[in-house]
Amino acid sequence: MKQAHTWLIANWKMNGDRARVHAYAAEMGRALADAALDVTVVFCPPSPYLASARDAIGEASPLKLGGQDCHAKTHGACTGEVSAPMLADMGCSYVIVGHSERRAEGETCADVCAKAEAAMAAGLIPIICIGESRAEYEAGRTRAALSEQLVPIAALSATDYLIAYEPIWAIGTSQTPSSIEIADAHTHIKSALGSETCVLYGGSVNAANGEEILGIAHVSGALIGGASLEISSMRAILACATKRGM
Ligand code: PGA
Repeated sequence: MKQAHTWLIANWKMNGDRARVHAYAAEMGRALADAALDVTVVFCPPSPYLASARDAIGEASPLKLGGQDCHAKTHGACTGEVSAPMLADMGCSYVIVGHSERRAEGETCADVCAKAEAAMAAGLIPIICIGESRAEYEAGRTRAALSEQLVPIAALSATDYLIAYEPIWAIGTSQTPSSIEIADAHTHIKSALGSETCVLYGGSVNAANGEEILGIAHVSGALIGGASLEISSMRAILACATKRGM
């Protein structure tokens, strides 16, 4: 994957409704068509609304669709789950795996890697989330915590993935690490997985800090939760991404 490229991932989590998803996808698609940038925006709505988003986007749009999670199996007796081939069938080209909100439900590193393999097998690009807890951060154990999560990722059968570095304590808290700390974590991740790995930052990214965060060395984009719900903040973050590409 191309280092100079920028990815913005809009993770809506369990928010929105069909009408909002449709309107947002249509407007974001238009914003991107105008921008014609070296930026990929991936919209990850709740899975029941993927069809609404896809219909609003249309085939040729630069706006991409993503799932928020997938199962490691392709099909079977897994009530409530969604498989990677199903997401691909719905028009997704990306899927988030290993988000800390999923890991908090008991998902292990092995589970996350199995999901990443399933995603790649289905032709999707997994966005693999990793990050340290507040206790690990405060104990100065960020690199060690990341290393534990990186070992199984380094053993994946392919490298067609993105990494999202998301300190758990920065998610939805309006707190972010310093630019130096973000750069250090990204350097550490690249040293474990290879310098060609594209690493996004996630955790309280918004219109006010977007330019600074996207300007940090080795940051290839952002995974945005709360601020992605408003089209105006996404447009502002997209403008920051444009500057990065210049
Ligand atoms: P936030 O969420 O931007 O609301 O902090 C980020 C995430 O959970 O991916």
